[in-house]
Amino acid sequence: MPKVIYDCDPGHDDAVALLLAWGNPDIELLGVSTVAGNQTLEKVTNNARALARVAGISGVPFAAGADRPLLGPQLIPEEIHGDSGLDGPQLPAPGVELDPRHAVNLIADLVREHAPGEITLVPTGALTNIALFARMYPELIQRVGGITLMGGGHHSGNMTPAAEFNILADPEAARIVFEAAWPITMVGLDVTHQVLAVPERLAQLQGVGTDVSQFVAELIEFFGQAYMQERGYPGPPMHDPLAMAAVADPSVLRTVAADIYVETQGDYARGQTIVDFRTTWDDGEPARLGVRDAQEGTPRHRVAMDVDREKFWTLLVDALERIGNTNFA
Ligand code: BDR
Ligand code: CA
Repeated sequence: MPKVIYDCDPGHDDAVALLLAWGNPDIELLGVSTVAGNQTLEKVTNNARALARVAGISGVPFAAGADRPLLGPQLIPEEIHGDSGLDGPQLPAPGVELDPRHAVNLIADLVREHAPGEITLVPTGALTNIALFARMYPELIQRVGGITLMGGGHHSGNMTPAAEFNILADPEAARIVFEAAWPITMVGLDVTHQVLAVPERLAQLQGVGTDVSQFVAELIEFFGQAYMQERGYPGPPMHDPLAMAAVADPSVLRTVAADIYVETQGDYARGQTIVDFRTTWDDGEPARLGVRDAQEGTPRHRVAMDVDREKFWTLLVDALERIGNTNFA
């Protein structure tokens, strides 16, 4: 069973991802860490703690992390997530105390306490905490089983033609993370833009008929209006929940192994993730011999290419059904 540390910046889709993790029987949620991104650190941390009440989460430490990117300017996409970072539904009071540790130290403690390879990190915000973890605890990098992150893409950006928000929010951190020696699966816009919460899907979620599913519907309604207004989408992309779903059931995505690089400079390319498809290995076999020496082995990065939408929606509906009514209001 995957043991997950969820590093997030809730954020509408982060909120849905947290519910998916908590309601999924195949994920053991070990800890939740927050990072500035969709809103300030203070706001996203308050949101995470309120979500703990909505979901009925207990026995899981919640810790706050980095309040700004390593180097670049702080970007806050208020036009997408609103003034609170989670505009739409009425938020309840926090459901958990904040752990006194810095998020990076919480992650380090959990990684140390578990067997090597046991923990999967799931970052769905800027990669600042994860980069700081790699720099502060380099001896623990090898103990992390893998990272499944929402960010980037090989086809297009959303903040700029080249860059996706989570990577552009802290490109230097992203570069540190992609260069560290852990396996990474990148769940980028190529797949998340294929999973839109169009009205029929929203109705399917509402059909669960609980106070939590109603809360999710209100989140998606706000998020959807923002995406419609800003980008003309018929429904909001389920970015972060898709990364979490892929941890619960990897067959939700088709991925290929390929080296991924993060561009930190350039007038147009800062924040771009560049996938070297010349090195693509599928099913352990090099797609094109001669580019990557077989001696070098398979790249440690994988990029998500396609998604099984039905499987995704089933996982989300199942998670909400398991959570049931929490009487959080
Ligand atoms: C990512 O940016 C954030 O606004 C979302 O929460 C998601 O993690 C999509 O680009
Ligand atoms: Ca996010």
